Amino acid sequence: MTKQEKIVSMFDEIAKTYDVANRVLSFGVDRSWRRDACENALDILSQKELDLVIDVACGTGDMCQYWSKISKEKGVDLKKIVGVDPSKNMLEVAQKKGIEADFILGEAKDIPSKDAKADIVSISYGLRNVVDRENGLREFHRVLKRGGVLVILEFMKLPTDSIAAHLRDFYMKRVLPIIGGILSKNYNAYNYLPNSIDNFITLDELKDELQSVGFEIIKTKDSIFDISTLTIARKL
Ligand SMILES: C[S@@+](CC[C@H](N)C(=O)[O-])C[C@H]1O[C@@H](n2cnc3c(N)ncnc32)[C@H](O)[C@@H]1O
Repeated sequence: MTKQEKIVSMFDEIAKTYDVANRVLSFGVDRSWRRDACENALDILSQKELDLVIDVACGTGDMCQYWSKISKEKGVDLKKIVGVDPSKNMLEVAQKKGIEADFILGEAKDIPSKDAKADIVSISYGLRNVVDRENGLREFHRVLKRGGVLVILEFMKLPTDSIAAHLRDFYMKRVLPIIGGILSKNYNAYNYLPNSIDNFITLDELKDELQSVGFEIIKTKDSIFDISTLTIARKL
């Protein structure tokens, strides 16, 4: 099995308990991070009609649900939402929620869409899992319309000497694997999370990578203790 296949199979294994574990482990705060990301992106685009939002690494569909809900709240006529994920079991959970979105099996580096069709591409807590990140970012750029926005929510690697990094490290490495392991009965998956953050890139590195494939950085925003970071970039 390749590294990418192992990651996807891990999500297949934890799909059924993924939502409960997320709510418990984030104390429900992940909802406000997603809401905030969608609100910011829709405000930045500031259009009353949108053709397409593609949520990559959509998992169990939470972000798609927020795109649907928040576009309605803001009076935006959003014609289509598509969720893409390589995990069959995560998509199965998403499909049962009655979300107004199409869910398609696929990977970041090979998005099932023609060029320049999407107004928004989002990826929440998914980029760390994309082994071929360079081609993933290129795909996001390819499927976006010119001027369209990319919305990334992620646990970025923090400078190791920061207080926020120590606090987050303690929670992610000592507390989260135990609670996540109990809820999912899969301790490996919840050990993978802190390791994947350690092996990920910093916000500055992400900005460089985005700029090098043709994005302009519009906004970055850290949550309390820099746990989660929102990055919004525009296709030039
Ligand atoms: C931590 S979950 C995030 C799910 C969802 N976006 C959320 O916010 O809850 C990571 C997701 O990334 C997906 N994934 C893993 N490798 C991927 C890839 N190469 N391309 C797209 N998605 C991938 C997994 O299947 C999993 O559903």
